[in-house]
Amino acid sequence: MKPVRKAVFPVGGMGTRFLPATKSMPKEMLPVVDKPLIQYAVEEARAAGIEEIIFVTGRGKAAIENHFDHSYELEDMLAKKNKTEILDQLINLLPNEGSISYTRQQEALGLGHAIYCAKNIVGNEPFAVLLADDLVNSSTPCLKQMIDLYNEKGGNVVAIEEVPREKTSSYGILDVAGRDGKVIEVKGLVEKPDPKDAPSNFSIIGRYILQPEVFSHLEKKVIGAGGEIQLTDAMAQMLGHIPFHGLLFDGERFDCGDKTGFILANIAFAMAREDMRDGIKDYLAKNKDRL
Ligand code: G1P
Repeated sequence: MKPVRKAVFPVGGMGTRFLPATKSMPKEMLPVVDKPLIQYAVEEARAAGIEEIIFVTGRGKAAIENHFDHSYELEDMLAKKNKTEILDQLINLLPNEGSISYTRQQEALGLGHAIYCAKNIVGNEPFAVLLADDLVNSSTPCLKQMIDLYNEKGGNVVAIEEVPREKTSSYGILDVAGRDGKVIEVKGLVEKPDPKDAPSNFSIIGRYILQPEVFSHLEKKVIGAGGEIQLTDAMAQMLGHIPFHGLLFDGERFDCGDKTGFILANIAFAMAREDMRDGIKDYLAKNKDRL
């Protein structure tokens, strides 16, 4: 079984839900406390042992490339002012030479199409996909939990959580063949089904481990839910041919593609910080009448 060494980050989306904030700034650069969403996702991948990072970008996303590069003026200024702690953080963020690649999705044809754009860079090996919108707070990185399961079972692995029935139309949903604790054996997948048609309430979050065969299905460019080329549909074509598991990961997931989820992530991450916790608690306590 080949190890998972590469991770794809689709970052081409327009971020219309966060306009006007995202008019001239990529949505992946929105900060949770003081770190952009994309940095959390990259740090999670690295902590899971990922060696190569592939960004599928689009027009207007240069800020992401700049974020993962030197900023000489800034580094010089921080060094002169002896601000070593933040300087070290910025330096640690930089990828090793040649371990980061960028390719562009030229048309917004859906998540499946974005992943297809990474085909040549991924090559013939398993790879991870991380959607920066989905921020996971956990003691063991979510992707690491998935790689541990992959090393046992092989095939495809998706991270999942249970959602209320009425929310199934926002997510990829599993049809369940069997369950062993936190591990679900998958027999079907549907993208954004109506609650009445949903085969379960196990929803896929933006974390995947995929076999490269997925590209041969994405290549067919079949149009699915919402008129887009869906990753879920390509994965569904692989069922029955390779092992396919959903993992009920340990941790808390925030849907930062949604404004409420994004604010909740900020509150949760700020509450976890000693320098901020008291300020937030005081504010909430003083304003409990407004709750
Ligand atoms: C995408 C996937 C969906 C998945 C979701 C997780 O949807 O298509 O299957 O459940 O990410 O966040 P999107 O959020 O891009 O609409």
